[in-house]
Amino acid sequence: MYRDPVQSLEPLPSRPAAIRALRVGMIGIGTVGSGTFRVLARNQAEIAGRAGRPIELVMVAARNLVRAAAIVGADVPLTDDPLRVATHPDVDVVVEVAGGTGPAREWVLAAIAHGKHVVTANKALLAVHGAEIFAAARRHGVAVAYEGAVAVSIPIVKALREGLAANRIEWVAGIINGTTNFILSKMRDEGLDFAAALAQAQALGYAEADPAFDIEGIDAAHKLTLLAANAFGTTVRLADVQVQGITALERVDVASAEQLGYRIKLLGVARRREEGVELRVQPALVPASHLMAHVSGSMNAVMVKGDASGVTMYYGAGAGSEQTASAVIADLVDVARLDGTHAAQRVPHLGFHAHAMSALPALPRAEACGAHYLRIPVQAASQIEAVSGWLAGQQVPVQQVALAAAQPGMGAQLLVLTQPVRQGTMDLALHALQAHPSVAGKVTALCVEALA
Ligand code: HSE
Repeated sequence: MYRDPVQSLEPLPSRPAAIRALRVGMIGIGTVGSGTFRVLARNQAEIAGRAGRPIELVMVAARNLVRAAAIVGADVPLTDDPLRVATHPDVDVVVEVAGGTGPAREWVLAAIAHGKHVVTANKALLAVHGAEIFAAARRHGVAVAYEGAVAVSIPIVKALREGLAANRIEWVAGIINGTTNFILSKMRDEGLDFAAALAQAQALGYAEADPAFDIEGIDAAHKLTLLAANAFGTTVRLADVQVQGITALERVDVASAEQLGYRIKLLGVARRREEGVELRVQPALVPASHLMAHVSGSMNAVMVKGDASGVTMYYGAGAGSEQTASAVIADLVDVARLDGTHAAQRVPHLGFHAHAMSALPALPRAEACGAHYLRIPVQAASQIEAVSGWLAGQQVPVQQVALAAAQPGMGAQLLVLTQPVRQGTMDLALHALQAHPSVAGKVTALCVEALA
């Protein structure tokens, strides 16, 4: 039974005798929705104690009502019509955890138009329709909260918007997709092949409904757009992210990276430069001694470099039912505390108030700059000098050259680590290198991120 802590100590005459519960309507009761239901029920007293009032689930929309009833029991009314939840007068806040971008956009906009706050873990929805949804929320004076959309259990949106509010953020980088990190860890640690590792991630509920979103880097790009918007005060712009997934990654590169003292991770990187913002999702080499290299399995980690704070790092589960519920419910607690506040006094949706958003342009691929790892199949090991000398002549400064450890069925492989070089210069050099007479196969190029 919830007791108002203030009233229990010293009743205040002007205070209402009973504080009204925050009434939640939930759309979707799959992995995240069922986790949210369980945690809300299990930690009811703690959550109410923090929120200042109880948080009650009053209605659920689900496609499969029999399955939904088995999860929430007989006390919570069910419907198969999400719009009914989104517009119902007894609902104060809509939790959208159904996923997808088309119908979910309609439900969320309907909820906002009916004056309801929205909590969602749907990164695809916000990455694609965020500008429209946040503008509608501003017009109607409601909150749209989405901590569960990025690196689920890690309160990184709160860290960027509130904890680091004093800083000019220079960069944000991290492992923000649990499925790909799980796959890369299994490939490296257990020698599993890609398909078997993906099947395990799906069985554990980490992967998106369409796992292509995970392995092609799209899910990480969705999350990176939200991180970048909060870090730099820019709008949400998915189209500006350069995205490369892990499907083309070969085991020889995982082994060669190890040989050079690195590990391969799918990183999302958002970096502010003089001329604009660099937004990239790609498999990258991270020094094996770096904390980021030791983030394994479905775990996520995000680093933020602020001008005052310096580098801070955040680590936690990147996928999972109750792990996402943790963030969804934290958002509900924030919403429960909003009552009576004017929208202008709240934490802005993307960290900055609308009038203070930045127009920083996104940099084209050619303007990105960083060190690279190259694996170059060569006709003979003796060509190591010729190829590395040729690269230097193409304005690609070479930092380290080695021959890859012999791999069954593979000829000589030259490994090169470059100094930082403009991506445009690197792309031109790679194109020409592919036609070099000493090169015996497809050249592989990956970024190297020192994360210093
Ligand atoms: N498919 C996502 C991941 C789930 O693997 O990170 C959490 O966003």
